Amino acid sequence: MSTETQNIIIQKIAKSKISEVDFSNLAFGSVFTDHMYVCDFKDGEWQTPTIKPYGPISIDPSAKVFHYGQAVFEGMKAYKAEDDSIWMFRPEENQKRINFSANRLQMPSFPKEMFFDGLETLLKLDRDWIQKGEGNSMYIRPFVIATESGVSASPSKEYKFMFILSPAQSYFKGGGSDVKVLFADKYSRSANGGVGAAKAAGNYAGQFYPTHLAQEQGYQQVVWTDANTHEFLEEAGVMNVFFRVGDTLLTAPTSDRILDGITRKSIIQVAQDMGISVEVRNVRVSEIVDAAKNGTLLEMFGAGTAAVINPIAGFGCKGEDYTLPKLENSYAMLLRKRITDIQTNKAEDKHGWRYKV
Ligand code: COI
Repeated sequence: MSTETQNIIIQKIAKSKISEVDFSNLAFGSVFTDHMYVCDFKDGEWQTPTIKPYGPISIDPSAKVFHYGQAVFEGMKAYKAEDDSIWMFRPEENQKRINFSANRLQMPSFPKEMFFDGLETLLKLDRDWIQKGEGNSMYIRPFVIATESGVSASPSKEYKFMFILSPAQSYFKGGGSDVKVLFADKYSRSANGGVGAAKAAGNYAGQFYPTHLAQEQGYQQVVWTDANTHEFLEEAGVMNVFFRVGDTLLTAPTSDRILDGITRKSIIQVAQDMGISVEVRNVRVSEIVDAAKNGTLLEMFGAGTAAVINPIAGFGCKGEDYTLPKLENSYAMLLRKRITDIQTNKAEDKHGWRYKV
């Protein structure tokens, strides 16, 4: 059956797949809900979007996304509170950032009103898939791909904007308590004037090989350093990074090399609200190694939508391994609780970050 609401054509699935899903054991990003949202751009404008059963899409093999990687994406989450209300966290930030990323790759912006209409309609349709309770969320993956056929190296004139939804628990296998990272000293993620600040698909593909090498040595993620000198710590593969030296939290400033993470900036604000001293400044590899050696490096943690706030158990740098202490009341856990309480409507939202669906 097909209906049209708010200028969206809705084709509902005949029978939900929800009963086939084991919600107690979800590998991140592996299960998708019944429906997806698709909106095509052609003849210079976005067409009427469709919400349809989740499934394969058909694209010409010469489409530019396959040859030149003209693709951007976002990561967002929705949460179900105890009273069954559904909330998103700072979704306007993702909406702005996907257009920032798209424009950096010479792709058209997607209108704000269509973004929210589409996403809210999809979330309401698949709301039974959003699980309540600690650690559960609905991971939302908005993305845009270049679909025009033809292999000339030029921007596409046609695109697909899509939302797909994936019920999520922990990003890292086993809950993420033993994540170790390797500081990069050879490969780089991004350079001045490049696309590092955009959520361009290729930024992630470029990390797969160095991350694979790091994984062979027992590390889960690489912490990227500046491409010029490898002396300053920037961000990890799927998260921004924070360092606690003594009682102070350190994190790198954003730049055209570093993603302006929404969890990152929320942590900076919440930490300051809690009276924690935060320094946003260039963080030297050598100061973190020295702090690990003299015992003042108390914590490291990663922060991102998918990873939430994930403590880092240790790091490798220039052939040496460093283990971090296990703290009872770590900043990572205090901040994680405060942020997830705001996200799930359990704590006061004094900055107006929650968005009711
Ligand atoms: C997110 O945290 O949402 C991200 O986009 C990282 C992703 C590559 C898993």
